[in-house]
Amino acid sequence: GDFVKKIVCIGAGYVGGPTMAVIAHHCPDYKVTVVDISQEKIALWNSDQLPIYEPGLYERVVQCRGRNLFFSTEVDKEIGEADIIFVTVNTPTKTYGEGAGRAVDLQFIEQTARRIKEISRSDKIVVEKSTIPVRAAETLRRILHSGNNSIHFEILSNPEFMAEGTAIRDMEEPDRILIGSMDTPQGRQARDELTRIYGHWVPKERVLTTNLWSSELSKLVANAFLAQRISSINSISALCEQTEADVTQVGHAIGMDTRIGAKFLNAGIGFGGSCFRKDLLNLIYLCEHYGLHPVAEFWQKVVDINDFQMQRFVQRMVNAMFNSIVGKKIAVFGFAFKPDTGDTRDAPAIHICRALLEERAWLSITDPHALPNAKKDMEGIPGEIDYLEDPYQAVKGAHAIALLTEWNQYRNLDYRKIHDLMEKPAFIFDGRNHLDHDALFDIGFNVYGVGKPAREHFE
Ligand code: UDX
Repeated sequence: GDFVKKIVCIGAGYVGGPTMAVIAHHCPDYKVTVVDISQEKIALWNSDQLPIYEPGLYERVVQCRGRNLFFSTEVDKEIGEADIIFVTVNTPTKTYGEGAGRAVDLQFIEQTARRIKEISRSDKIVVEKSTIPVRAAETLRRILHSGNNSIHFEILSNPEFMAEGTAIRDMEEPDRILIGSMDTPQGRQARDELTRIYGHWVPKERVLTTNLWSSELSKLVANAFLAQRISSINSISALCEQTEADVTQVGHAIGMDTRIGAKFLNAGIGFGGSCFRKDLLNLIYLCEHYGLHPVAEFWQKVVDINDFQMQRFVQRMVNAMFNSIVGKKIAVFGFAFKPDTGDTRDAPAIHICRALLEERAWLSITDPHALPNAKKDMEGIPGEIDYLEDPYQAVKGAHAIALLTEWNQYRNLDYRKIHDLMEKPAFIFDGRNHLDHDALFDIGFNVYGVGKPAREHFE
C-alpha cells in the first residue's frame, strides 16, 4: 500500500495494545500491526470486547482498526514485511533454577529474537519495549546476527512508563519518551527513525536520547525510585503511629519542598502491581551479579519495608480487636492493587487477606471490578471467604472493615447504616487513609488510619 513504513509489534498484551493504538492514531502514514500467537487474544482485539480496559483505548482502536491498525496471528508473515519491530512479549520473573523468584525469565525474548532472525529477508529496527535487564540488547543483537552477515538489525531500547488506568494519557502526553541506541551511524539513524514516529505528537524536547544501557537501566531505576518513595513514607507511618504525628501532615510538609516534590507520598498498606516488586527484585539481582552487595541490600530494604507494612497493618488490626480475630467476620473493601482496575497482580490485599485467614478470621471481600481475580488469587488458601458485589451485604455482622483499595465509591457509602449492620464495637482500618475519620468516629466507629493515632471509644 501507500504507507511510509510498516511497524509490527510482537505481543498483544498490556503494553503492546495501548502503545500501538496510540501510534496508529497519530501516525496514519504508518501501517501498524500487532501480532500474537494467541488466537483468543487477537480475536478479542478484533472484537468489540477488547482484552484490556483502559480509558480512551476502545475509541482509538475502533477509529484506526482496519485503516492502519491491524491485529493478526500471522506472526511470521508480518515480521517478514516489517521495517520496525517492537518487542513487547512478557518478561515474567524466573520460577526455576538460578535467580528463581528474582531474575527475569528471558526465554520469550530469546525465542522472539530467533524467530525474527529466521524469517527476516530485509534490514530491520528491533525496539525492546518490555522491561528487560540491562544489557539485554546485547543478547538480542548477538542472537539476531549469529550466522548471518547479509541482514542488519539495529537494536533500540524504548521503555514505556505508562501506569495502569492512565495508559493512554501517559502515552499521549508523556513526561518523556526515552530512546536508547548504539552510538554508531546506523544506531543514530535508527534512533532518528523512531524519533520521527514520536514526533507526530510528542514535543521534541520531551524525546530523550541516551545510549542503550542507560535507557535499559532507567526503566528499572524509575520504578525502583517510585517504590522507594512509598517505602520511605510507609516507614515513617510506623513511627507516626507511635508518636501522635500524622503521616498525612508530615507528607504534605515535606512534599512542599520542591526538591522532594508532593507526588507519590501517600502512606498505605504498601505498593502492589505487576512492576514495582518485580523490577526491584530484578535490580537487586543485577547488583548482586556485579558483586555490589551494599547496593543490593539498600534496594532490598525497599521490598522489606513493603512486606513489613502489610504485616504491621494486620498486627494492628489484631491488637486493636482485643488480640484475637478468631471466628470474627472482617469485611474487606477493595482487592485491586489500585482503584479503577480489576488487576490484582501482587496486590497487598492478597498478602493481607492470607494473614487474616491465618489468624482464623472469616472474610467477606467486596470490590467493584476485581472479584473474579480475587477468587483466583485466594484459591487453595484455607479459610472461609465470601465474595460480595454489595458492600452493605459484606458488612452484615462484621466486626471490622479493612479498606485496602481507595475506590471512590467507598467514600459515598452510608456509614451510619453500615455501623448499624455491624457487630459492636465496630472497627474501621483505613489502609489508604481514604475516608473521613472524624465523621466515622462520631458515628461510633473505632478508626485506625495508617500513620495516624488510633481513634478509640472507651465507654
Ligand atoms: C507503575 C509506574 O507508575 C509506571 O510508571 C510503570 O510504567 C509501571 O508501574 P502501576 O503499577 O500501574 O504503574 O501503578 P502506580 O499507580 O504506580 O501504583 C503502584 C502501587 O503503589 C499501587 O499499589 C499504589 O496503591 C501504590 N502507591 C502509589 C502508594 O501506596 N502510595 C503512593 O503514594 C502511590
